[in-house]
Amino acid sequence: MNQSSLSARSLTDQGVSATTERHPGVSVSDLYTAASDLQRLLSKDTLVRTMEPLGPKTTLKVGGAADLYVVPSQVEDLAETLAWAGKHSMPIHLLGRGSNLLVSDEGVRGVVVSLASQAFLDLEVKGEQIRSGAGVRLKRLSEQARQQGLAGLEFLEGIPGSVGGALRMNAGAMGQWIFDVVLQMTTMDRSGQLRTYRADQITAGYRHCPLLIEEIAIEATFRTLHASEIQVKKTMEAYATQRRSSQPIGSSAGCMFKNPEGGSAGKLIDELGLKGQRMGQAVISEIHGNFIINQGGASAQDVLNLMELVRKRAREDRGVELEIEVQRLGL
Ligand code: EPU
Repeated sequence: MNQSSLSARSLTDQGVSATTERHPGVSVSDLYTAASDLQRLLSKDTLVRTMEPLGPKTTLKVGGAADLYVVPSQVEDLAETLAWAGKHSMPIHLLGRGSNLLVSDEGVRGVVVSLASQAFLDLEVKGEQIRSGAGVRLKRLSEQARQQGLAGLEFLEGIPGSVGGALRMNAGAMGQWIFDVVLQMTTMDRSGQLRTYRADQITAGYRHCPLLIEEIAIEATFRTLHASEIQVKKTMEAYATQRRSSQPIGSSAGCMFKNPEGGSAGKLIDELGLKGQRMGQAVISEIHGNFIINQGGASAQDVLNLMELVRKRAREDRGVELEIEVQRLGL
């Protein structure tokens, strides 16, 4: 029995009717059919589920379910999934570690793919280079570098994402971002074609890599420098101390807004006196103004309302148009 039929059965057991409309023109039974259709094309270890709740897979812990959720067990399964989604005109979305994500309360149409299987978790050190699969956690990558006495990736220690998500966002901290240390990157396009780019062929800016809007990062090779393990550890500890003193630990999606040119969104929100403002169970952190904390049971709409309040105040009081950093799914 495959995963999609398992999911279908449990939903029926829960009293969800297969004829229920999940979206206008898309019934629950359409989704079961689509899931079994897709599962037939994929290797048996690939997970395909219908109506998979996404909130628990994000650090903010809000939002509804994905129509279809796929964890490809092989790179070829990812290619098949992309081709199938293209053929059926279904949107496709990549879920990293869900650390920079706001999922709609109504859920997400199309296919949500997670690269959390072993095929995307390789980590290989060769001299001063580290090759990492897209599913690897940044924490594991930076720890691996430390253990090998390799410097350069310390700033990634506290970013709660995966390599793939960090590349997509050109994630950064401590004045550096991930494309500062990328030597090359392999991607897959929507037709399943793999391509490898050298760093000088990739354009990346502040929290942005245009190439990865259409293509999906599969792996990257990072440049490091030999150093003493103690020195690397010291740098990581200093970064962790700085992060712990300036950022909250509750459920959040990290910084919600990009910093405006030459300024800090967190400082601006603080100066506007918005810390502690709440909508439902979503609250602007008292520790850092650019973080929204889910105090338990917040909806995506609560978070959106709070973001709108911040943008309105920044616009009206300071003439600043805050750009949203957090990735939105289904919104
Ligand atoms: N500040 C305040 N009040 C606040 C928040 C900040 O006065 O509520 C002040 C700080 O004291 C500091 C300045 O604003 O003088 C900048 O703050 P911080 O050092 O925390 O940096 P940031 O610009 O707010 C950026 C990234 C973070 C990253 C940190 C640390 C963005 C949007 N944010 O924050 O990235 O962790 O630097 O390097 O670029 C993320 O992208 O999700 C993220 C958390």
